[in-house]
Amino acid sequence: MKPGGPWPGVIETYREFLPVTDETPVITLREGNTPLLPAPAVQERIGLPIPLYLKYEGANPTGSFKDRGMTMAVSKALEEGQRAVMCASTGNTAASAAAYAARAGIESIVVLPVRYIAMGKLAQSVMHGARVVAIEGNFDDALRIVLAITSNYPVQLVNSLNPYRIEGQKSGAFEICDALGDAPAYQAMPVGNAGNITAYWKGYQEYYAAGVSRRRPKMLGFQAEGAAPIVRGHPIADPQTIATAIKIGNPASWKSAEAARDESGGLIETVTDDEILEAYRLLSSTEGVFVEPASAASIAGLAKLVREGYFQREMEAGLPEDACAVAILTGHGLKDPDRAIASAAEPIEAEAEADKVAEILGLRRPALV
Ligand code: F0G
Repeated sequence: MKPGGPWPGVIETYREFLPVTDETPVITLREGNTPLLPAPAVQERIGLPIPLYLKYEGANPTGSFKDRGMTMAVSKALEEGQRAVMCASTGNTAASAAAYAARAGIESIVVLPVRYIAMGKLAQSVMHGARVVAIEGNFDDALRIVLAITSNYPVQLVNSLNPYRIEGQKSGAFEICDALGDAPAYQAMPVGNAGNITAYWKGYQEYYAAGVSRRRPKMLGFQAEGAAPIVRGHPIADPQTIATAIKIGNPASWKSAEAARDESGGLIETVTDDEILEAYRLLSSTEGVFVEPASAASIAGLAKLVREGYFQREMEAGLPEDACAVAILTGHGLKDPDRAIASAAEPIEAEAEADKVAEILGLRRPALV
């Protein structure tokens, strides 16, 4: 961070690592600089033998990591004279594109698999003035449509196939290294369209090449069991999971996700919806960190690896003294309020009287002495 002033956003902070010039108009909502939280309660509950940190990307301006890439994609679109941006989305990319386009004063068009997107995300796109196209189909259908349109009409693609998205998102890796003084030994994250794992790996590689960090993490990616094309090795025609953000059957950045996995010595595995929901509740109830279900796949995945003896084997092979794991929590829990309500205990009903409420709660006045 620049000393003295407020956080200026991802582009100004990491300008020397980004393809921007003095001519680039910087469109920012001061994204980035998100909390890196120690998570001792979750670490203990899942039995992880090394310290765990949570990179809470829900603290970005539109509530997800997408803002890191969108500041770059929209700034470059403006620099290139574009007047409209377009994306397919499971909701978060759309919300972010709509917000940054609004701030830039240009148009946004978002194509959504409307039956599967979380309400908070739809609310954002609508409020930021996006033209919302709801399709009867899934994310993969939406992306196919958007690629066809953006290659034939004067509308800028802002899905992560736009390389500027990846450039901006790699800043998450920079922040983690800056905060820890080096890269962690392991980084866990959900994988959907696979742009983010690609971006983080690029960021770690660049910091390493520049001599800012001395090591690179093993990249641990997690897909929902019913939407795990990379794990299965083939596209999934009808992906299924409650984690709607990663309900994707044919990821655009498939090859680069495999490269991140293989070059880092990491893995990409599945987690079940039940495991995701358990991690979702664990994070909110023990750490005070509310995320959307897809984000909880990071923790569900670490828990699964612990159960399977992965970290035991890693320790036997030898770990650095200060080894730790970072889980990327990609989106805010308020994005998907319906899932939260469906996953939690019902509120206690009571009459609007203090005595009645105290009685129902089983409270006793302290005895007089
Ligand atoms: N977590 C959240 C909350 C997401 O919104 C996404 C992707 C991912 C994880 C996976 O990241 O696609 O880079 O592998 N959401 C996209 C969207 C697809 O349209 O908002 P990825």
